[in-house]
Amino acid sequence: MSVVFCFLTLQIIFFGKAKLLMVKIGNLILPDPEGIGFPLLLAPMEDVSDPPFRAVCKENGADVMYTEFISSEGLIRNAIKSRKKLDIFDHERPIGIQIFGGDEESLSLAAQIVEATQPDLLDINFGCPVKKVVQKGAGAAVLKDIQLMVKLTEAVVKSTSLPVTVKTRLGWDEQSKNIEEVAERLQDAGIKALTIHGRTRTQMYKGEADWTLIGKVKNNPRIHIPVFGNGDIDSPQKALEYKNRYGVDGIMIGRAAIGYPWIFREIKHYIKTGELLQPPGVEERVAVCRKHLRLSVEWKGEKAGIHEMRMHYTHYLRGLPNIREYRQKLVTLKTLEEIEETLSEIEKTYKGFVPQPVYTTECSFEEKCPAN
Ligand SMILES: Cc1cc2nc3c(=O)[nH]c(=O)nc-3n(C[C@H](O)[C@H](O)[C@H](O)COP(=O)(O)O)c2cc1C
Repeated sequence: MSVVFCFLTLQIIFFGKAKLLMVKIGNLILPDPEGIGFPLLLAPMEDVSDPPFRAVCKENGADVMYTEFISSEGLIRNAIKSRKKLDIFDHERPIGIQIFGGDEESLSLAAQIVEATQPDLLDINFGCPVKKVVQKGAGAAVLKDIQLMVKLTEAVVKSTSLPVTVKTRLGWDEQSKNIEEVAERLQDAGIKALTIHGRTRTQMYKGEADWTLIGKVKNNPRIHIPVFGNGDIDSPQKALEYKNRYGVDGIMIGRAAIGYPWIFREIKHYIKTGELLQPPGVEERVAVCRKHLRLSVEWKGEKAGIHEMRMHYTHYLRGLPNIREYRQKLVTLKTLEEIEETLSEIEKTYKGFVPQPVYTTECSFEEKCPAN
């Protein structure tokens, strides 16, 4: 009798806890292989968060991923570049497709196109600060007009059965940080999760991300959808500190994952055990870089794949002493074979070396960085 009682009690504790830890976006239960109940999301990043990059992030612990943003107008016009960005794969699930636009009808039509590709989530970008996007009344421009934001969001929610999420910023500028109202209104409009980058549009990437308002949104008793924090998370210690301090449901990571996809597993390990995981040695760094390169070539073809990988070498090889010459060589080579050979040479030269991670959110993509 007492054994049965104990078993039942344990079951209640276990399931009670499991339920407590689970994060859901609509009906989608987010994966939690480590049982920490704190999902890590890979940020949408233009020209970075493509399938090859997402593959290495997923393998190293990203729980939820988003495509780079896709123009709703481009999708409707069937623009090749926009359509290509819809490529998603089963091993990436759960995966969200992010769209942007400032027009109700275009966003609705784009939402239907997105739905046909069967992602798990559809995200609307209301945070991109680049001029060419803002001038068209899309991205962060929508933060200036909550009424319009609600209309656009409702139009998307009505056009799809996918769970709709939104990624945005604190507000347009220092004087108009309206995220608290925005969060309530978007939740009422039917979104199922909100990611907030702790900067305003006018800040672009300057200064430090301010998570205070993100915490306030999360702690608003009216808000019942998951709130994910974003901005400047660049170490396991900071991730845990911000998790505890701001109480968010999960964290989205962008720049710190570029060339360092291990940040996901390191954060999870630290949250779970309080200990820092041994960083990847040169062999693992080269292996993942090589995989990323091969996937890029497979997905984009040799010429474009090689060209687009160039920005990643600095990040993969960061922390290796006197690596400059190799790095410069890698960005000039034109064939997969030559690059593979050079990577093997690097592996041989630095055999057994374990560089300390140099986490960075510094942006070396000058022209790209402003994209939200
Ligand atoms: C190169 C680059 C491209 C980006 N493109 C997008 C995008 O397409 N959609 C979006 O919502 N945010 C985009 N962002 C913003 C990131 O998603 C993220 O909000 C921002 O980098 C702050 O997070 P982090 O400090 O972890 O990098 C981009 C950022 C970078 C650096």
